[in-house]
Amino acid sequence: MKIDKRDWLFIGLIVVVLGIFFAISGKEKTKFVPLDDKHKPFYDTFAQTGSKKEAEKGCETCHNEKGVPFPPNHPPKNRCLLCHKLKR
Ligand code: HEC
Ligand code: HEC
Repeated sequence: MKIDKRDWLFIGLIVVVLGIFFAISGKEKTKFVPLDDKHKPFYDTFAQTGSKKEAEKGCETCHNEKGVPFPPNHPPKNRCLLCHKLKR
């Protein structure tokens, strides 16, 4: 197969896309939800319901201004488990 100009454009595009992909995934190293006594119930709920939306109810009973505070630059935080993955 001869590689012509169109092919090089295509290869270049793939390289750029992969580059962006790695750049983003490197930066978004969000912390995992710890697998300890405090967080175990949420793992159980998720195992039972298969629903992250169900499992993340109750996070904010501890994670709030007066309890375990968020870092000051924390992003909008209504869907904890979309960003903070559960460990497997
Ligand atoms: C019973 C209180 C409590 C509840 C409920 C709770 N957490 Fe936590 N969480 C803590 C405490 C205390 C810490 C910090 C100390 C530690 O790591 O145990 C913490 C730490 C964390 C951390 C940081 C871990 C790290 O590596 O620094 C994340 C992320 C987190 N919690 C996410 C969640 C999510 C998501 C939920 C809901 C699914 C949740 N927590 C529910 C008490 C709680
Ligand atoms: C839009 C993505 C996103 C959502 C949604 C989100 N977080 Fe975070 N969270 C982050 C990022 C990014 C950080 C800072 C980087 C890091 O240390 O994980 C962070 C940091 C934290 C930390 C501090 C970790 C440490 O010790 O440095 C805790 C605790 C935490 N989040 C809990 C929660 C809880 C509880 C919820 C739901 C109420 C939530 N987060 C929702 C992205 C998110």
